[in-house]
Amino acid sequence: MKDRLQQLKKEFAEIVDHVVDRETLEELKTQFLGRKGKLNGLMKEMANLADEERKLVGAVANEVKEAIEAAFGEAECRVSKASMASSAAKEWIDVTEPALHTRPRGTLHPVTRVQQDLEELFTSMGFMVLDGPELESDFYNFTALNIPPSHPARDMQDTFYVDGRPDTVMRTQTSPVQIRGMRAYGVPLRLIAPGRVFRNEATDVRHEHTFHQLEGLVVDKGISMAHMKAVLEVVAQHLYGQDTKIRLRPKFYPFVEPGVNGEVTCYLCKGQGCRLCKHSGWLEIFGAGMVHPNVLKEGGVDPDVYSGFAFGFGLTRLVMLKYGIDDIRHLESGDLRFLKQF
Ligand code: PHE
Repeated sequence: MKDRLQQLKKEFAEIVDHVVDRETLEELKTQFLGRKGKLNGLMKEMANLADEERKLVGAVANEVKEAIEAAFGEAECRVSKASMASSAAKEWIDVTEPALHTRPRGTLHPVTRVQQDLEELFTSMGFMVLDGPELESDFYNFTALNIPPSHPARDMQDTFYVDGRPDTVMRTQTSPVQIRGMRAYGVPLRLIAPGRVFRNEATDVRHEHTFHQLEGLVVDKGISMAHMKAVLEVVAQHLYGQDTKIRLRPKFYPFVEPGVNGEVTCYLCKGQGCRLCKHSGWLEIFGAGMVHPNVLKEGGVDPDVYSGFAFGFGLTRLVMLKYGIDDIRHLESGDLRFLKQF
């Protein structure tokens, strides 16, 4: 009897090790420990034993029952761990996959991108960044910039005048911020003023009523054209690489004297001549010059003590050159097919 009990324990131990799923394990439990199971079968036979003998065998039977239960517990633990591991393997999550319900994300407008890049460059050189009003007084936009009323220089810019407000214009340039900057902060002064400007253009691929400029002004004692050239060279090389050269040629702007038209070597053909630079090897990207004494005076600065230079980049032009945009009208169109490319 005892041997048969020990045999039962051994038999269970051998089988249970091979079980890998929960159902088989349950079945095995019923077979061995269930009411009509093998252990109970043996126990029933114990009834026929003599008292003394039954006590001994009973003790063994209990020990066997506990051993089987313990082995069952272990197997149960092993099987459930294995099944968790296998379902985890089947249900893995790809954390790199984009979520299904994200809010659509906008992107920065190409003008904003180039503007921010230049703001960073100029602030690294100690310039401050100023804003000015887009609806500007005729005084700041023209008169204070050495363009008195009825001066023919006003014809250079096709101005939007505003109905019922004869002293007001949509600013045609960012240059009025030169005057505003000098009046607000005095000298010495280093500022840039990026922003929107407006002209009454008949629009086509190269003309738009709304576009962007980036103005700059430096005023201090002893400022010369050499300073101007050095700063503009830094900007050109930042934009188009270390081997970029600049070319300054005389050009009239009423608020500077002397005034220059600023070009950089064409980044596409490196000055050889190509379609982009209209075979000249040069790209015109800014106007600049030494601040006219009358303009310093309007800014409250003594031209006998201070001098300065100013420049105005065609920000829109820089953007078109950078991204190869062939029609200026895309920029203000609000067309998502265009904007989504940035
Ligand atoms: N304001 C000029 C323009 O719109 C550009 C410029 C700025 C030229 C500063 C010289 C100095 O054309």
